Order: sequence, then structure tokens, then C-alpha cells
Amino acid sequence: MRMRQISFLSDTEKNMSKLFWSSLFTLAAAAAFSLKRYFGGMNCRCNQRLDCKAVVITGATSGIGKALALEVAKRGAQVILACRDMKAAWAVVDEITKETHNEGVYALPLDLTNFKSINEFCGLLSECEFDIYSLVNNAAVFYLPLQTTADGFDVTFQTNYLGPFLLTLKMLPSMAKNGRIVNVSSEAHKLCSSLDIPKQAGLFEVYGHSKACLNLLTLKLASTVDGVSAVNVDPGNVETKIFRNFPLLSNPLLKILLWPIRFLTVKRPVQGAQSVLHAIICPQPANGCYIRDCKEEWPSDFCMNDTNADALWHRSLQWTKMTEEYVLQTNEYSSV
Ligand SMILES: NC(=O)c1ccc[n+]([C@@H]2O[C@H](COP(=O)([O-])OP(=O)(O)OC[C@H]3O[C@@H](n4cnc5c(N)ncnc54)[C@H](OP(=O)(O)O)[C@@H]3O)[C@@H](O)[C@H]2O)c1
Repeated sequence: MRMRQISFLSDTEKNMSKLFWSSLFTLAAAAAFSLKRYFGGMNCRCNQRLDCKAVVITGATSGIGKALALEVAKRGAQVILACRDMKAAWAVVDEITKETHNEGVYALPLDLTNFKSINEFCGLLSECEFDIYSLVNNAAVFYLPLQTTADGFDVTFQTNYLGPFLLTLKMLPSMAKNGRIVNVSSEAHKLCSSLDIPKQAGLFEVYGHSKACLNLLTLKLASTVDGVSAVNVDPGNVETKIFRNFPLLSNPLLKILLWPIRFLTVKRPVQGAQSVLHAIICPQPANGCYIRDCKEEWPSDFCMNDTNADALWHRSLQWTKMTEEYVLQTNEYSSV
């Protein structure tokens, strides 16, 4: 009798323990699921199609640009991937064409660290006679050691800002009426409070400065160019190759240790592409706004300041040997 009671108690204990662990597991799974959903951000809920509209995406061989190219191809757009690694670009064209059966996916060479390459890209693009609905300035580098390009600028500054500046101006004549220029920015722009980057600035600040300059370009375009709107987008924190030079994430051991946290809190490229997609297809975004999690916000005060935008605009015209007259002559919508 006593033996049976003991065995009965231990069965109850076993069941209690099973119940405890399964409840704990369910709770942990539910918490992980909620966290992942929360940090995954919003999906673009607009169902507009992009048939017969051409979208140019810079840096579409990986990460957000590649995911965005797939999303716009699914919506019927003609997609032009503007990339410096053409082998990788053609592989992406094949992948997207196979998946979407959209035959209008193309690749053209573009290296933003080289003004000559930007001019050649624009020449090729105008020969193709696309009516560009959207230019997405997506390509960027992060945490690259300071080095000077052949044109004499810091590689991060030229890739993330000055190259896109020249590209955008040169592409204005090819833009469709009511087209959109979408500049992929970052929360790091908030680190910047001066047009002149301090000499002792760290690589994070250099990146933030380049993104603030891109936001100021958006402001200038929004306030002076008619017929084409310009918006900024913050894609959020996204798992991509952009972190390849970032010490915390380029160390394999640290990467493994941080994996569980990053798995839960960092977006996948397709999630990062949602706000950019929203900027392209949502009806009438406020000109010059900053789209984050598919909602319209505004960038930092520094990036909303017209005096800063004007000063940078004039410096950039000089650096790229462009003139206001060029912008006036070549863009029928411009009121610069
Ligand atoms: N990932 C994030 O957490 C995050 C957060 C905020 C903002 N963003 C922004 O999101 C955008 C996309 O970044 P991502 O995270 O998708 O990074 P990514 O996977 O590294 O993609 C960057 C793309 O830019 C291209 N690129 C770099 N230098 C170039 C140049 N000189 N000329 C032409 N293309 C060049 C790269 O081409 P190669 O393959 O040839 O290098 C690549 O295709 C960037 O503007 C980034 O600042 C990302």
C-alpha cells in the first residue's frame, strides 16, 4: 500500500514537472514569436501594381536592394538593377525572372565611387528610353576604413551621398511625371549636426553624416523640383552584408554569441524592404518625409533645415562640376 502511494506521488510529480516545462516552453516560444513579430516591423499593405513602370534600384545584388527588386518585379515593374558587380547582378536578374516570370528585369553597371561610371550609367539608361517612375538610392557602405576615391572624396561620403547626388541630378530628365526619388537613409543620420564632419569623427559618425547629407538632398529636391517627389526611408535594423566591416559583427565568435538576440530582433531583408516598397507605391507620400515602419515621419531638425540643404546643394554642385543651369535645362519639371 505504502509502495503504491509513493509511486502514485512520483507520477504526479512527473506530470507536474512535464506540465511546468511544457508551459515554460510554450511561454518562451510565444515570447520569442511576439518579439520577432514586433521587431520584424510593418508590412506594406498597399496593393498597387507597377505594370509598365520602371524602377531603378542601386545596389541590388544583396540585402534590402535585392529583396526590393523581387517585390517590385512581383508587382509587374520593369526593374533596372544598378550594380558594380555585374556577375552578381545577372545572377539576381536570373533568380528574379525565374521566380516572378517577369521578363522586364535588367542590370546595368554602376559604381558610385566613380563619377565617370555614373555618367556612363546615365548615358546607357537614356539610350534604353525607360520612363523612370522611381529611382531608389539604396546602395551604401558602412564602417569602411577611410580612403579616398579616384574623384578625391571619402569612399563612404561618395558612395552614400555624393554619387547618389550626381546620379539623381543626371537622372532627372529620364524621370516620369509624378515619379519618386526614394533615398534609403538610416537612424544614424541623427548623429550628425554639422555639414563639416569633425576630423576625429569615428566611422559610425562618418556613416551618419553621409545619411544626413542624403536626407538634406531629399529636402532640397522636395522643395525645388516640381513633378517628381522625394522621400527618405529608414529600413530599420536588417540582417545584411552591410555589417561586414563592423567589428562587433565581423568577428565570427561574437557573431555566433549574438545570433539568438539578432535572430529575434533584427529584420530579414524582405522585412527591411517593406518601408522602401511603401515609399514607391503608397498613394501620395508627403514630399520630403521620412518613412519608417511604413509610416510617415520626419528626419532630425538638422535635416529639416533649408539653410543646411541649400549650403550642401551648392557645395555638391561644385564638387560634381554640375550647374544649376544644367538642372534647369534638363529637367522640364524643375523650378530650381
Ligand atoms: N542593414 C541595415 O540594418 C540598415 C539599416 C539602416 C539603413 N540601411 C541602408 O539600407 C541600404 C541597403 O543596405 P543593405 O543593408 O541591404 O546592405 P548590403 O546588403 O551591403 O547592400 C548594399 C549594396 O550596395 C552596393 N554598393 C556598395 N558600394 C557600391 C558602389 N560603390 N557602387 C554601387 N553599388 C554599391 C553593394 O554592392 P556590392 O555587393 O558590390 O558591395 C550592395 O549591393 C543602405 O543604404 C543602408 O545604408 C541598412
